[in-house]
Amino acid sequence: MAVTVSLMSAVAFPEIMQTTIDDQEFALWIELLGRRIGLRDSAIRKSYLLQCVETRVRKRGIASRRAYFELLRANSGNNEEWDSFIDLLPLHETRFLRHASSLALLTSYIQQRCAVQKTCPAMLTAWSAGCSTGEEAYTLAIVMDQAVAPYEWRPRINVIGSDLSRNSLNKARRGSYQRRALSNLSAEQIAHYFDQVDDETFIVKSALRERTQYLPVNLHELDSSNGMVGPVDIVFCQNVLIYFDNVERERIVNQLAEHVAPGGVLVLGGGEMLRWNRPDFKRIAADDTLAYKKISALI
Ligand SMILES: C[S@@+](CC[C@H](N)C(=O)[O-])C[C@H]1O[C@@H](n2cnc3c(N)ncnc32)[C@H](O)[C@@H]1O
Repeated sequence: MAVTVSLMSAVAFPEIMQTTIDDQEFALWIELLGRRIGLRDSAIRKSYLLQCVETRVRKRGIASRRAYFELLRANSGNNEEWDSFIDLLPLHETRFLRHASSLALLTSYIQQRCAVQKTCPAMLTAWSAGCSTGEEAYTLAIVMDQAVAPYEWRPRINVIGSDLSRNSLNKARRGSYQRRALSNLSAEQIAHYFDQVDDETFIVKSALRERTQYLPVNLHELDSSNGMVGPVDIVFCQNVLIYFDNVERERIVNQLAEHVAPGGVLVLGGGEMLRWNRPDFKRIAADDTLAYKKISALI
């Protein structure tokens, strides 16, 4: 495969820098990104990709797009240039309290787990897979904290956020957000979970931040032997599968499923996974949500 890319790239890349990208060159970039992060071609427009590549070419003072392509291709491991390039791609849009129905399902799941003291676990762990800059992970922590609050015997909560982008993870760890990013949260939630730093800046209170941890996980390389996460009670993976083709989506969801503890739930973005069916999971009937409960371990 690598040989094909190398031979083709000699043909596809223009000798003189052009302000457009043709189908052949676009296919090479998509193949490179596909191998690295599983990105499918319809997930990014040509013009946007061109802009990202040109930005890095200029910033690094590299002679041509082809030279930049070869630089990325040669660096297949963890690499700062890959991180910088991925950060420019339009993948990271996120919000606090993004999908109300999924969060309502989370609250009701936690209430069921906590209802009886004898069977209430000492700890509940959630994983936000593809957490971007932390809004989803902190959302899970807030919703879980509120859901366990009424119970005298409330379990400790723990949230893992993971992403491909190291810069996004660093931002998540800082937990610092501008006022406009908090617009979905109520005044009470802001007062309870954030410290105001100045007129525009708020930082997640350390009591909540300490219940979260952030890990670099490339879902394209996720396998069941990945010991970094799991087994966990709740997996949220929303607005992430859209970047992968159907085969890769199914592979990733199957891997995520392996990280769900028996009795735990897997919550996906609505319409992001069609016809997923496994004997160890049961679809949860709830409006406007795509969620499954792990009813047993696979034998
Ligand atoms: C649109 S954001 C969604 C963030 C959050 N889940 C939400 O719904 O608000 C998609 C995130 O998926 C991450 N992502 C894309 N491909 C990935 C991969 N192969 N492995 C891990 N994360 C990936 C991106 O870096 C980005 O932060």
